[in-house]
Amino acid sequence: MSHFDNLMEPWHFMWLSLTHIPATIRALVAAKDYATLFSPSGFREALFGTLWGTVGPEIKASKEGHVIALLEGRVNDGRIVEKAVTTPIYGTVLEIGAGSGMWVDVLARYCNGVDATGRLRNRNRKNAGNGITKIYGVEPNPISAKALEKRVKEVGLEDIYQVVPVGIESVDDPSAWNGKIEPGSVDCIFGILCLCSIPEPEKNIQLLYRLLKPGGHWIVYEHVKVSRGGPLMSFYQRFSNIGWSLLMGSCRICRDTEKSLRAAGVWQEINLGQPPDETASNVLPHIAGTLKK
Ligand SMILES: C[S@@+](CC[C@H](N)C(=O)[O-])C[C@H]1O[C@@H](n2cnc3c(N)ncnc32)[C@H](O)[C@@H]1O
Repeated sequence: MSHFDNLMEPWHFMWLSLTHIPATIRALVAAKDYATLFSPSGFREALFGTLWGTVGPEIKASKEGHVIALLEGRVNDGRIVEKAVTTPIYGTVLEIGAGSGMWVDVLARYCNGVDATGRLRNRNRKNAGNGITKIYGVEPNPISAKALEKRVKEVGLEDIYQVVPVGIESVDDPSAWNGKIEPGSVDCIFGILCLCSIPEPEKNIQLLYRLLKPGGHWIVYEHVKVSRGGPLMSFYQRFSNIGWSLLMGSCRICRDTEKSLRAAGVWQEINLGQPPDETASNVLPHIAGTLKK
């Protein structure tokens, strides 16, 4: 993308969000969900859900190479590399902010067991490591959680993938959902573009850290606070965040997620970096990589 496109990127998303307002109103009226229609925060979340239905697949297509490399441990300092530098995804996985299930089919390739046609799922075995045995998909938006359930069935992953229809702040609370994820019980946390949306990020990132086993891995792909471009870029990002916070659900663009992750607890290894194709003009820069507890 050109520098101009990079600078305009938040405004492009905000404009797209505005164009989704009529469809969101129509859907809420059709569902007779007037409580959400007339609740500012509820409507913002519903609008974001409608918008993500359009932009999510495009974002998935553009990020899929990076996400596959992350799942296979092939991202070093934000760059995709040929050989694994960290452990590929395995064991009990917590997918946070799973949305409508955009990554379920990709995760399925790394799951153990057989699919509905009797074929081995973990068919990318060369790069896939020991395989996933269980996934908890955490998604609080009721519309997205329903779509996630549907997607899990379509992909034939019901034996492994359990939808947890609450926010990550409630995953260890058995009164909030039909289960409890115990501290120190998760092998890998996986989340794509979701730590920008959770409430109280420092507190909740620490909560997630406690759920990881010692030696467990946290696989990250997030958009974050700008770190290049000087004070003018920081100001411009904070300015863009004003409209963004009104039009993009609970998502925020100025979070220092890397700092929150580093501060969450003791890590044996941290391998995080900015993808190499991003420049100082990216108002929505990313971090990608893995932290090992
Ligand atoms: C930008 S979307 C990304 C969805 C998905 N990871 C993807 O790549 O398609 C952010 C997601 O975070 C979810 N989210 C918001 N608050 C959350 C919370 N407290 N706990 C977990 N997820 C949350 C939103 O509902 C939304 O589905």
